[in-house]
Amino acid sequence: MSERVIDRDYVTKVNQQYHDAIVDKYDERFEASSPDVVEWTQAHIDRYVMPALDLVEGTPRAIDFGCGSGSMEGYLRDRDLDLLGLDISENMLARARERFPQWRFEQADLYSYDPGQKYHLVMERAVLHHLVDYMPLVDKMAELTLPGGILYLGNEPNRLAYKYLSPLAKLWRQTINRYRTDDTIDRLGDADFEALSEYHLFYGDGIDALALKERLHGHGFRRVEILFSLREIFAAVEEAYPKVRLNAWTPDPIRDHFRLSRNFTLIAQR
Ligand SMILES: C[S@@+](CC[C@H](N)C(=O)[O-])C[C@H]1O[C@@H](n2cnc3c(N)ncnc32)[C@H](O)[C@@H]1O
Repeated sequence: MSERVIDRDYVTKVNQQYHDAIVDKYDERFEASSPDVVEWTQAHIDRYVMPALDLVEGTPRAIDFGCGSGSMEGYLRDRDLDLLGLDISENMLARARERFPQWRFEQADLYSYDPGQKYHLVMERAVLHHLVDYMPLVDKMAELTLPGGILYLGNEPNRLAYKYLSPLAKLWRQTINRYRTDDTIDRLGDADFEALSEYHLFYGDGIDALALKERLHGHGFRRVEILFSLREIFAAVEEAYPKVRLNAWTPDPIRDHFRLSRNFTLIAQR
C-alpha cells in the first residue's frame, strides 16, 4: 500500500467510493442473502428485537447506522416503524430508497451525525469493521438507545477467530476472496480498499465481542447476548464452490455456537 495518512476522513472516502462502485453487486452477495444466513438473522430479530418493539406505545423509532442498500430493513419490512437509515454512499442509499419507500434514508457521516433524539431500536450491520475507530460510534449508538430499547451490532468480525485462525486468512485471500478483490480493483483502480475498506475479510484484527459487552454494561445495558455464527463464511465458501455445502453439512450446534466463528452479532437491551 502506498504511504498515506490513514485517518477517519480518508477511510470514510474509500468506503464511499468502494460502496458506490459495488452497489449493483452488493445485494447478490450470497454471504448475506443465502437462505441459511437470512433464516438465522430473522430468527434472532424475531426473538430479541420484535418483543421490545411490541412494548412501545405508538410507532417505535429505529435508526440504522451504515444502512447500505437496506439489508436490515428487509428483516423489518412488515413492521410499523419510523425508520431512518444513514450512509455515506449515495448509490447504496438510492437502492435502499427504491426498496423501502416507506422509510427515510439520508446521506451522513456516522461519526458526526447527531440525530437529536433517542430510539427504540439502534442498529448497524457489517459497519464497525469498516471504520478506523469504531468505539466512539458504539458509545454514541449506546447513548441513543432508549431504556428498554435494543442495540443491534450485526455481523462483525470475531477477534478470537482472527487471533487463533490467522493462517486461514492468507488462504482465504488467495483463493475464495480473490474474485472479489480482482473485481473491485478493476472497478476502483486502486488496491487500497483491501486494507481500508474490507477489514473484515481477515485484513484487520477483528473486534473483541467481550470487550463490547463490558462496555455496554457500563452504558447501563442489562442484557447483552453475543451470538457466534459460521453461516456467513460458509455461505461465502459456497458462493465460490457451490458443491461444498458447508452450511448443510455442519450441525447447528457447531455452526451457531462455535466460539472461533469468523462473525458475531451482539444484541443488547437497555
Ligand atoms: C458492508 S456495508 C453494510 C451495509 C448494510 N448495513 C448491510 O448490512 O448490508 C458498510 C456500509 O457502511 C457505510 N459506511 C462506512 N463508513 C461510513 C461512515 N463513516 N459514514 C457513513 N456510512 C459509512 C458504507 O458506505 C456501507 O454502505
